[in-house]
Amino acid sequence: MTARIIKVNSQKLEEITGAAEIIKEGNLVAFPTETVYGLGANALDKKAIKKIFEAKGRPLDNPLIVHVADYDDIFKIAQKIPKIAKTLATKFWPGPLTLIFFKKRIIPDEVTAGGNTVAIRIPKNKIALELIKSAGVPIAAPSANLAGRLSPTTAQHVFEDLGNKIDLILDGGRTKIGIESTVVDLTINPPQILRPGGISFEKLKKVLKNLQLHPSLLGKKIQEKTKSPGMKYRHYAPQAHLILIKGDLKRRGQKIQDLIVKYKKEGKKVGLLTLLEREKFYKGSDLVLSVGSEKNLKEVAQNLFKTLRKFDEMGMNIILSETFSRKEIGFAIMDRLEKAAKKGKLD
Ligand code: TXA
Ligand code: MG
Repeated sequence: MTARIIKVNSQKLEEITGAAEIIKEGNLVAFPTETVYGLGANALDKKAIKKIFEAKGRPLDNPLIVHVADYDDIFKIAQKIPKIAKTLATKFWPGPLTLIFFKKRIIPDEVTAGGNTVAIRIPKNKIALELIKSAGVPIAAPSANLAGRLSPTTAQHVFEDLGNKIDLILDGGRTKIGIESTVVDLTINPPQILRPGGISFEKLKKVLKNLQLHPSLLGKKIQEKTKSPGMKYRHYAPQAHLILIKGDLKRRGQKIQDLIVKYKKEGKKVGLLTLLEREKFYKGSDLVLSVGSEKNLKEVAQNLFKTLRKFDEMGMNIILSETFSRKEIGFAIMDRLEKAAKKGKLD
């Protein structure tokens, strides 16, 4: 099969009715959200959920996020919902925040990888919201990439990974945020961020005063059995070997320049992930791509996955990358870069 790509904009929402039918029939539709593209299926239909895992080649023990359109929908699929959920939802939903609650039995074990908790979010994208409403069911959707590859931020990325495995891709242009949602576990006390993302720790902490970071995000080595679902996998992997260069601007600059020379001598194709301000600074690499201005980390987040994919497309063996401030969205940017740079088991 070859996936159809249908361009949709907020004026042409009728196209979405057909896509909702496909979901209702138990099949898959890729759709845009404000973070990255998702690969959606009816969250209440076991068989449909299995198709997601098959299409992505995703390990069965990595649970999915369930997308709903209204706050009240969470009561149908989750239980023991703490009061703070309402406050968080009022402030951040629709938006790039995923909350983990105890699940109700209506959610099949396939969605939650056998666990008793379910991840839920309301996306801030008209196409996504219309699709959920029109389908009339909650939609389980991981990022619409092959397991172990970068999350897609355009319909074309989805097509590259899954074009021969699914029927339909709704094309809503490139995604606004470019990095996945922040995942917060509300089933434990104090609550924890399991994955940094579109809503920053700083912003969440203003509402959720006792919020903590999962120890693995503080650079701590954690035992296999205390890991949360999904944490044992290496996400966000480019095919090239990614090397992050730390240090202040001057030292970083020198180091990057030295490494270009070293890897070129070894006959490697060397790509450089840099900043707008430094695009013309380095000499001798094969491909220089800017992810945006150092002064605008939101722009960097938006361009990050697209840029990493480009290096693979152009056949680079090595990517040398600048590093960024960990403030606000910078924390999620560095998380993704560090995971992509690590060798390990694939998601
Ligand atoms: O922005 C996003 O979150 C995108 C869009 C499509 O909504 N979705 C996304 O899904 O990134 P995925 O499957 O690529 O990542 C979901 C993450 C995984 O790390 C998974 O392990 C974690 O959420 N997760 C899902 N359910 C969980 C649960 N019950 N407990 C702990 N972690 C969970
Ligand atoms: Mg993913």
